[in-house]
Amino acid sequence: MDTATAPIPVRSPLPDGLAGSTVVILGGTSGIGLAAGAMLRSVGARVVLVGRNKGRLDAAVERVGGGDQVIGETADVADLDALEGIFERAGSVDHVLVTAGVIGGPTPVTEVTRDGAWEDFQSRLWGVLATARVAASRLPVGGSITFTSGTLLMRPIPGFAGTIAAAGGVEPLSRQLAVELAPRRLRVNTVRYGVIDTPLARTVAGAGPDTEGDEKMAQAALATPLGRYGTADEAAAAAVFVMANPYVTGSILTIDGGGSLA
Ligand SMILES: NC(=O)c1ccc[n+]([C@@H]2O[C@H](COP(=O)([O-])OP(=O)(O)OC[C@H]3O[C@@H](n4cnc5c(N)ncnc54)[C@H](OP(=O)(O)O)[C@@H]3O)[C@@H](O)[C@H]2O)c1
Repeated sequence: MDTATAPIPVRSPLPDGLAGSTVVILGGTSGIGLAAGAMLRSVGARVVLVGRNKGRLDAAVERVGGGDQVIGETADVADLDALEGIFERAGSVDHVLVTAGVIGGPTPVTEVTRDGAWEDFQSRLWGVLATARVAASRLPVGGSITFTSGTLLMRPIPGFAGTIAAAGGVEPLSRQLAVELAPRRLRVNTVRYGVIDTPLARTVAGAGPDTEGDEKMAQAALATPLGRYGTADEAAAAAVFVMANPYVTGSILTIDGGGSLA
């Protein structure tokens, strides 16, 4: 049977199945992406961590450890040429995780600017599309692409029109790509997160990385169904799960501690 149309081999959906594979993580220098990098390394994957800030990148590479099994690359996810270079230098890449994204302070829709909206579009929507474009022709049979979205899409709050307008395209795009890339035996999924306690969430909440910040986050989380926010590890484990399970594609997996039900 032609390898391009042969079924994806059945293998253990447990993360152990990722041993020996290479995973590019766009947004791998902080929060969920960094936790995914450490987790993937711990199950024997080679990881390529990507972020824009060199200092953060160096610290992340050191934190994940693993010598030549952890590579750091500085790039903006919206830079197509930079993405091409990362995949070229990485050699074979099996899976891609995109967690890159920033969230600014609330901006009423009446104050949204073209530049601000364009920036959101570039990083949140073009970035994932560009990643898919580069990855689609390079990933092997059984490879996967995992995107990130948030429960703000389902339960909007005032002030994030620009972010939602851009990020709202990610879930339909992943379903579209799951269909388009299935004949290549590639899988595409999105993990949709509720509040996960990361530097990004703390910035939004106005909480620092210190004990005072811990208390502020813990207090705010008491109103959630499980009484706390998710950890970066819990969030990363979901991304690693969809990556590792050869029968998962076209899925939007919600990891929000039941927050969408409250
Ligand atoms: N934490 C939550 O509660 C939550 C909830 C729902 C959805 N999400 C989404 O989940 C994703 C990860 O969030 P997080 O909480 O882990 O955030 P985080 O801790 O701030 O990490 C974001 C990562 O993305 C990188 N990044 C940002 N913009 C980039 C760009 N244009 N190109 C390349 N890298 C870029 C950052 O590094 P540099 O800044 O150095 O580039 C960093 O490594 C984000 O898209 C976020 O919107 C998070």
